[in-house]
Amino acid sequence: VNTYSHMLQTMAIARGLRPDDRALARSAAIGATLPDLPYLARGARLLVRRHGRVTVAELLARLDYGGTTNWAPDLALHSLIVPAAVMAAAGPLPRRAREHLRALAAGWAGHCVADVATHGSDARPALWPVSRRRWHSPLSTWEAGRHAVAVTGAEHILTALAVASLAQQGWKPDGGTRSARKRRTPATGGDLIAFASRFVRHPARMGAIVPTSQRAVAAMLDGTDLRRAGLVVELGAGTGVFTRELLRRSGQATRIVAFETDPVLYSRLAARLADKRLTLVPVTAERMRLHLDGELADAVVSAVPLTSMPASAREQILAEAAAVLAPDGTMLAIQYSPARQADLERVFTSVRRRYFAANIPPALLYTCSGPRPGR
Ligand SMILES: C[S@@+](CC[C@H](N)C(=O)[O-])C[C@H]1O[C@@H](n2cnc3c(N)ncnc32)[C@H](O)[C@@H]1O
Repeated sequence: VNTYSHMLQTMAIARGLRPDDRALARSAAIGATLPDLPYLARGARLLVRRHGRVTVAELLARLDYGGTTNWAPDLALHSLIVPAAVMAAAGPLPRRAREHLRALAAGWAGHCVADVATHGSDARPALWPVSRRRWHSPLSTWEAGRHAVAVTGAEHILTALAVASLAQQGWKPDGGTRSARKRRTPATGGDLIAFASRFVRHPARMGAIVPTSQRAVAAMLDGTDLRRAGLVVELGAGTGVFTRELLRRSGQATRIVAFETDPVLYSRLAARLADKRLTLVPVTAERMRLHLDGELADAVVSAVPLTSMPASAREQILAEAAAVLAPDGTMLAIQYSPARQADLERVFTSVRRRYFAANIPPALLYTCSGPRPGR
């Protein structure tokens, strides 16, 4: 497995497990990079010695960590014994130092385990120096007879998901200032995997491969004051990135009704979001009026994929959204193309659009008001 994959996947997993502690994720990522450092150092030395004048082939030969599997530093760094010893040694240290060392050792051990699973004829003894036995995996990143293409493909899909997960949470080392960090409720690694796996099964119904980024959620909601809202309706709650933020921004008397058709995502949300102001509705938003007890909404927040759903469902949802919105209410909608703008303009007298790049994929944020009468 490539060093960047070890590092990025470990960081994404650590952030998923402890979303509030990015420093620990960095320690885990350093641990996951450590075993390959001698090779990276060899490559860097070659570059310095030759003043950067090296061919790609020479550099790759120098970085070839598959080749030298009897080199003592390599064997030590790729042995599970060493991170286990680091973990044991962390025991008596102060709490924070212990947490960091354990994160480092866990990232390091994760690297060793991933390598055991993906090294065939170039396997290293995972318990060196206690045992010199090498287990030759049937999988390899470079041996054609050991499914190299599939293994490398899987490695890079996982790495792309890790990058998406990290991008969702923002790249800044500690999520910006302390107050900004407090304000955010980032998607966890589990949310990301749940979302992506539902996308693989139902791409048209999901409409995106990862949840909306925290920054896009904030940008979409920032102009709308929800503290005194009586009713807020959410369409397509997914893993709850908007729902959490709506709960955080609304007043104690606000009622939030969130529709989500996907049974897996609905169950996850129902298990995680217990708030008496929130009603989760596990049905399509096409008949939203039936669930609102005749009350008009101050805001309708939509992340449903209006473009990829059938035209009849789209028309029904837009007509219903306009019908349930109070005359001075606002509909906020996230879209990935302007294809549905004309539909929005048919049901609202004012439709404003903003482009927002910090999302996967980059998004258009719509603010609509003035529901047209007689829809
Ligand atoms: C692009 S995802 C957005 C999820 C989440 N709000 C976010 O921003 O990450 C769209 C969500 O809408 C849900 N959905 C699709 N069609 C729907 C419908 N007709 N009624 C309610 N939810 C729907 C999907 O199951 C999916 O969770």
